Amino acid sequence: MPQSPSFYVTTPIYYVNDAPHIGHAYTTVAADVLARWHRQRSETVFFLTGTDEHGSKVERSALDAGVTPQEWVDRLVTEEWTPVLETIDAANDDFIRTTSSRHKAGVKKFWSQLRESGYIYEGTYEGPYCVGCEEFKLPGDLIEDAGGGPKLCAIHGRPVELISERNWFFKLSAFSDKLIEHYTRHSEALQPQSAYNEVMSFIKGGLDDISMSRSAANVSWGIPLEWDEEQVVYVWFDALLNYVTAIGYGADPDTPDGKKFAQIWPANVQLVGKDILRFHAIFWPAMLMAAELELPKTVFAHGWLLVGGEKMSKTKLTGIHPSQIVDDFGSDAFRYYFMRAIQFGQDGSFSWEDMAARYQADLANGVGNLASRATAMVNKYCDGVLPEPGNYSNADLALADDLVARIEKADAAMLRLAFSDGLAEIMAFVDALNLYVTEQQPWVLAKDESQTGRLHTILYVICDSLRSIAIALNPTMPKSMKSLWGQLGAQPLLGELADATILSAMERGKLTPGSVVTKGAALFPRIEVPEPAKDSAAE
Ligand code: ME8
Ligand code: MG
Repeated sequence: MPQSPSFYVTTPIYYVNDAPHIGHAYTTVAADVLARWHRQRSETVFFLTGTDEHGSKVERSALDAGVTPQEWVDRLVTEEWTPVLETIDAANDDFIRTTSSRHKAGVKKFWSQLRESGYIYEGTYEGPYCVGCEEFKLPGDLIEDAGGGPKLCAIHGRPVELISERNWFFKLSAFSDKLIEHYTRHSEALQPQSAYNEVMSFIKGGLDDISMSRSAANVSWGIPLEWDEEQVVYVWFDALLNYVTAIGYGADPDTPDGKKFAQIWPANVQLVGKDILRFHAIFWPAMLMAAELELPKTVFAHGWLLVGGEKMSKTKLTGIHPSQIVDDFGSDAFRYYFMRAIQFGQDGSFSWEDMAARYQADLANGVGNLASRATAMVNKYCDGVLPEPGNYSNADLALADDLVARIEKADAAMLRLAFSDGLAEIMAFVDALNLYVTEQQPWVLAKDESQTGRLHTILYVICDSLRSIAIALNPTMPKSMKSLWGQLGAQPLLGELADATILSAMERGKLTPGSVVTKGAALFPRIEVPEPAKDSAAE
């Protein structure tokens, strides 16, 4: 049997200097929607997320909390970063922690090997460093302090630190031409176009070698170098390797881990926020080239969730915790909102008013109302048993054509990570089905016994179309669509919703007449947004 294509998608691994906010959830939800979509295309998917636990930023937050770094990261990972995955309903296949032994072993192996290949040399770094970014800054990255103080990091708005220390350097400069050549040949490797342009012009400006280690005297919380115990791996050159250490990098090719690595790498899509584009579009591929490993097929840098026009951030304490929204609206609406309301790749702002309006219009009055009308009619007119359809009318056939066109467009949009466009196509079909119900007026036909055949066909078409909608919306809203799938009586005959393919959403007449249709709980009940939530949004 030919192996189904494999699809490897990653999120950044997040710093555990504090609790997650909706910015982190945004990336993870996008990766999860993409993973679920590809699973429903019958691909073998591997979806990885995790936590970045070394470096000054985390070390200092532990110090502030009065605990050891290890206690701090263990606490934050168990109390915050893994629970949030459940809050937003992310179905990741693995979770990598950079303090795990599998990761540390892989990192040591990688850098020792690069040293043997001659890409590492000893030197001194003198210059600015932003602990918020964990980044050696270039003059162009800094902004003036209005009060005339030291220059500020443009992202964090905080003074950078001037450091001077002995380090080991990675010969990044050796990869400028190779990177340009790679991106020229593979324009799809960096998306969206704005990210591609930014990175290309940056590389063309020339790349300098960069420290791959930090002095342990200044940063003790890190992975020691194999060949120099006074140095730890620079946190980014530790963290980036998570994408390969999690899937068996470094293992003998004949072992299960080695085979896993060969099967899964390279990544198909690596999602990042635009704040960390340079690390993923320059350092990361250069590291891979140096190690003679394949490069990811696509790095996609999405935009920022903004608060008062600025990036929402842990460092600035402007974060909204995902559960503040999920507690009121549910995880499905949270996922739908962020994927539909913001064009992936552009910045966006969250507002409670916008969230509530979309919930009401698209979910409660849209899909939710349609599902409840459909199941109620089957119960009222057919005792809850899905009727047998007769001949299809032109209106029925037109609806079926529209469905195929919409799902095809949605599929193409999802594959190019245009989540909002993809959802818009599916929701346009929801509108078309709503219009069909209004025009066909089954409640009028129900009063005329000679029209029973036509009534049955219409009710069947509505339910079978809802089956398609459940499949297509499942990657975004798995909880409510599972409920809809159950209400339509799709299970057990059609199996689990998560196993229903996108292809099958385009087919007509898959529901089995005679199945039991139940009018269950409202998929998207009316919500009163509580006052405290409104207050916190106004900040
Ligand atoms: O950078 N809007 O971790 P981090 C949108 N550990 N996305 C946001 C966001 C916002 N306001 N705030 C955060 C790190 N994100 C490193 C990554 S990877 C090898 C190491 C998301 O905790 C977005 O994906 O600062 C961003 O790139 C990431 O969280 C940064 O998380
Ligand atoms: Mg950050």
